[in-house]
Amino acid sequence: MYKTHTCGELRASHVGETITLAGWVHNFRNHGGVTFIDLRDRFGIVQIVGNPEVNEELLPLKEARSEWVIQVTGKVRPRIEGAENPDLDTGAIEVAVKTVKVLNKSKMLPILINKDEEVDEHLRLKYRYLDLRRNSMRRNLELRHNTVKFIRNYLDAQDFLDIETPILFKTTPEGARDYLVPSRVHPGHFYALPQSPQQLKQMLMVAGVEKYFQVARCFRDEDQRGDRQPEFTQLDIEMSFVERDDVMALAEKMFTEMVAKVVPEKKVLQTPWPRITYTEAMERFGKDNPDIRFGLELVNITDLAEGCGFGVFEGTLKAGGEIRGINAKGLGDYSRKKIDALTDFVKTNGGAKGLAYIALTSDGQMRSSFAKFLTDDVKDTILSKMEASDGDLLLFVADQAEVMFESLGKLRVHLGDLLNLRDSNTLGFCWVIDFPFVFWNEDEKRWDPSHHLFTSPHPEDLTILGKETGKVRGQQYDIVLNNYEIGGGSIRIHDGELQEQVFELIGLDPEVAQERFGHMLEAFTYGAPPHGGIAIGMDRLVMLLADAPNIREVIAFPKNQNARDVMGDAPSLAEEKQLDELHIKVK
Ligand code: AMO
Ligand code: AMP
Repeated sequence: MYKTHTCGELRASHVGETITLAGWVHNFRNHGGVTFIDLRDRFGIVQIVGNPEVNEELLPLKEARSEWVIQVTGKVRPRIEGAENPDLDTGAIEVAVKTVKVLNKSKMLPILINKDEEVDEHLRLKYRYLDLRRNSMRRNLELRHNTVKFIRNYLDAQDFLDIETPILFKTTPEGARDYLVPSRVHPGHFYALPQSPQQLKQMLMVAGVEKYFQVARCFRDEDQRGDRQPEFTQLDIEMSFVERDDVMALAEKMFTEMVAKVVPEKKVLQTPWPRITYTEAMERFGKDNPDIRFGLELVNITDLAEGCGFGVFEGTLKAGGEIRGINAKGLGDYSRKKIDALTDFVKTNGGAKGLAYIALTSDGQMRSSFAKFLTDDVKDTILSKMEASDGDLLLFVADQAEVMFESLGKLRVHLGDLLNLRDSNTLGFCWVIDFPFVFWNEDEKRWDPSHHLFTSPHPEDLTILGKETGKVRGQQYDIVLNNYEIGGGSIRIHDGELQEQVFELIGLDPEVAQERFGHMLEAFTYGAPPHGGIAIGMDRLVMLLADAPNIREVIAFPKNQNARDVMGDAPSLAEEKQLDELHIKVK
């Protein structure tokens, strides 16, 4: 080894020892001939000191610049009184350098390592290997490691087997576009990268594995967002002979214990985790991935719209829409300008046409964009339904349910931010259950699975499948945490006939179904056990544990918003010869 100790481990107890360190020059300064360097390695920072004017061999200390890699041998000594640094674990001591060796130099840096200041993200991604040297990024890598380690140990102790499944496989639809890999050996044929190990984990259940998990890479070609990457990692779990509550209990217990162990400074809002039906989530929060840490819930005032006098509300009711509102408690003194900003917010973030408001100032005045049209009766009913009091700001959206929910759902979260109600040290886990089994796809005039093709309908609703299909509930469940869907799973169909019936229901041509999923249908004819599972988006989970603003912060080498790796410059052009071998001509 180039070192006897790490930079982070030295304490007063090491005083007097002669040691060797190797690391990066984090900071340097010269004081009257004496050079002070903060030497950094992954484990911490320690001050090293030498005087090149007294000892010429120490000249490299004086020449060293930021991020040079050096090796020093020296003696640990206490810092002189008053020079201790309580912010540093090693702040009681310093190392008096005897010999120094430059192992590598560094050019001027494109980004600063020793300051946690805002840096252009393109630069951070281009020089990711430098970005990862920064303290905040190292912490994120460690947190991710600790999270995965906890989960592996936990599942191992419960007899789960960690099994790898192929990356080169055929389409496993989860609602995104596939990444295709051309086959050289089979001209014109393609592998599809898995959007998840869904089919294979079900095959493992048919294979008798009973308890499977994998920290699995998944690939989805879809529009990028802060919580989406083209390749991401799932903690994938599947179990046999289980019902919905068994899978939910496992996940709930594991993650609750994980929080206590891995991020003890954070607390889980409520155990057992609340269970919220899809319908209730929409009604109360306007979204199926709610942040349950604060109130400001939606209130339905559609039934007050008829003949209320306000054209927008009456018109919406006639057009089959809904009117709901949020009482933004404490914002009643908001200026017109600030309310206009909220209006712009719902217009761009949910497609609402406007935001009607009643502001009740703290000194008892009322300002409103529409109250003048209302009868006193309706006005009073609205105020009481909204539980309004002085100092409140009531905000309403009237539109088709989808737009109204989208707008108010996002507005509620935005208000939560404005009112500082989203405390990052509280983890508001909840389950969302009883999703509709399928959603009507108006463009394609067919039913789309709301989870995926292999989810089982609720057994109680089997009789209305194909008749009142829109009312059928699916046996699926989502884990939601602080406004993010971090996981989802379901009890699966394990019966070939029901699976074929579902393919038919969603308009999958029997021949296509056979070609794509014939292997599954066949497997189900050889003694497939009842089974179910779940998959957790590890990037999203760690992002929330790390208080990071997007998942790129917790992925060592992420793609940018354009799905590019700007460090390695991928994707890139292929050589003519490669394309020829793959039987491909680029248009
Ligand atoms: P689902 O499609 O809901 O379920 O995915 C599970 C979880 O994976 C995460 N996730 C993503 N994270 C980052 N970037 C993406 N592009 C991305 N897409 C999804 C989310 C999501 O909750 N096979 C099923 C699971 C099952 O039924 O067991 C599945 O993949 O956090
Ligand atoms: P207008 O009559 O268009 O000037 O609108 C009066 C008020 O109603 C303004 O505050 C608008 O922002 C608001 N408004 C307009 N359309 C809607 C809508 N669909 N939902 C809620 N408020 C609306």
